[in-house]
Amino acid sequence: MHAEGADPIRLVLNGERVDIAHLSPQTTLLAWLREQRGLTGTKEGCAEGDCGACTVVVAQSRGDGTLAWSPVNACIRLLPSLDGKAVFTVESLRAPGGELHPVQQALVECHGSQCGFCTPGFAMSLFGLFKNAHAPSREQVDDALSGNLCRCTGYRPILEAAERMGEYDAEACGATGWRSPGVAADGSRIVSREEQQLAAALDALAHDATFDYRGEGQRWLAPVEADGLAEACAQHPQACLVAGATDVGLWITKQHRDLGTIISTAEVRDLATIRRGDDAFEIGAAATLADAFAALDDDYPELHEAWVRFASLPIRNAGTLGGNVANGSPIGDSMPALIALGASVVLRCGESTRTLPLEDFYLAYRKTARAPGEFVASIRVPRRPGGLVLRAYKLSKRYDQDISAAFATFALAMDAGRIASARIGCGGVAPTPARAVSTERALAGKPWSEATAAQAAEVLEAEFTPIDDMRASAAYRRRALGNLLRRLWLETGAGTDAPTRVEQLLAAG
Ligand SMILES: Cc1cc2nc3c(=O)[nH]c(=O)nc-3n(C[C@H](O)[C@H](O)[C@H](O)COP(=O)(O)OP(=O)(O)OC[C@H]3O[C@@H](n4cnc5c(N)ncnc54)[C@H](O)[C@@H]3O)c2cc1C
Ligand code: FES
Ligand code: FES
Repeated sequence: MHAEGADPIRLVLNGERVDIAHLSPQTTLLAWLREQRGLTGTKEGCAEGDCGACTVVVAQSRGDGTLAWSPVNACIRLLPSLDGKAVFTVESLRAPGGELHPVQQALVECHGSQCGFCTPGFAMSLFGLFKNAHAPSREQVDDALSGNLCRCTGYRPILEAAERMGEYDAEACGATGWRSPGVAADGSRIVSREEQQLAAALDALAHDATFDYRGEGQRWLAPVEADGLAEACAQHPQACLVAGATDVGLWITKQHRDLGTIISTAEVRDLATIRRGDDAFEIGAAATLADAFAALDDDYPELHEAWVRFASLPIRNAGTLGGNVANGSPIGDSMPALIALGASVVLRCGESTRTLPLEDFYLAYRKTARAPGEFVASIRVPRRPGGLVLRAYKLSKRYDQDISAAFATFALAMDAGRIASARIGCGGVAPTPARAVSTERALAGKPWSEATAAQAAEVLEAEFTPIDDMRASAAYRRRALGNLLRRLWLETGAGTDAPTRVEQLLAAG
């Protein structure tokens, strides 16, 4: 019997079952690994999900005898969220016989390490890729490493290691059992007996009622059904809701906040699902960003590039669409796109639900229409209509893993060369994610022409009053928004087969 709470955290660490009691529920996985378990191979660089030095791989049962393998940032991962899951750190990669794992061997042979501080994080991101792809493409490698920073080696040798890691004889390297490759040459999943056993062990740890953990005077409640979440929110209306903790984690590591009672949405099964209805995608608030973006890719491939530039793969593996929407940051990336697609947010309080157009959910800077005790249940995104012209543009200083200076999504409903209606979602230019209604009006009913685009761009430049900050000046943001609309014309306007202005300029040297 545990003194403080009925439920200990039960997880599998590097193959060994561990039970945890007494520690505060806002202990990070990284602090626990390093300070309680002495596993100092996992490094702390930034403590805010930005550098990847703390990357570990989490394996989760899919409920069918297989495991889902996801690299995540241990520095902002809260310990109780690992209940019922398996965590693998860099210490576990080397085989019991001492052989280096193919990802390690490749890093050694390609000279992918100098000071070595970033190397465990790279190794674990590569291990995640090793489990999820056979002969990964350059695009997959770039995405897998988008959350890892190296300050001294340079990326070329690390990219070479990613290409080479699949070429070793896995068995000779001791890469068997859970260390084995995850995908065969024909694309089928490889599931070793050891992985099946681990999946069964994790299934046995699953809760069928709310997981209630207490430590150091704090409480963590993780309901497994939406009804349980509604009940917990009603009983603790001031509790801190947490999903993937990719925002909340920083309140702990950077602001040193005491979160009091925490209610996790991450284990709520009916909130993690994504339903493809005839009219709309119903994306449960706890669906990860990775899963939500993959679903939206089916109907809206034009958004793919913006999604790949959303944070990094480990952040998208942990963070949720519901968390991004509920957090309501004016520089959040999914909202401008979702607003342009006509999405709405479904809120639940007790037994009752209400649905708001997403743009109406945001009232003021970081203030939403969510009442105490209410939670985001899902985000409803209409299926693709016919005749849609769609583009999303993210402007930031770095391509990967950077916060937007401005973000714009344009959705034009076309009818025989005319714009029947337009929806434009913008980020980074107002205190909330915003809809550019004046510009939408300036476009509606007009032919899609250079003159229309130029006129509407001027309206868009005047529509918002952005602020100056370290990311961009107000003047830049205004001008950039207008230019994005001009870019939309160049990319999608009349004669798209003809070279765009950019291509003409490039051809002219
Ligand atoms: C390194 C790094 C890079 C990032 N890059 C980007 C980026 O490029 N673009 C971007 O938009 N964001 C970015 N973010 C922010 C963050 O990843 C996203 O906002 C993410 O979607 C948050 O989801 P989460 O599940 O982690 O939310 P959490 O951190 O768990 O919660 C965020 C907020 O939402 C609330 N909440 C969560 N679920 C619910 C619910 N169901 N109902 C009501 N309230 C709820 C929480 O109480 C909290 O206020 C980045 C973060 C990091 C650390
Ligand atoms: S320590 Fe930098 S991402 Fe975790
Ligand atoms: S090897 Fe030094 S930071 Fe990457």
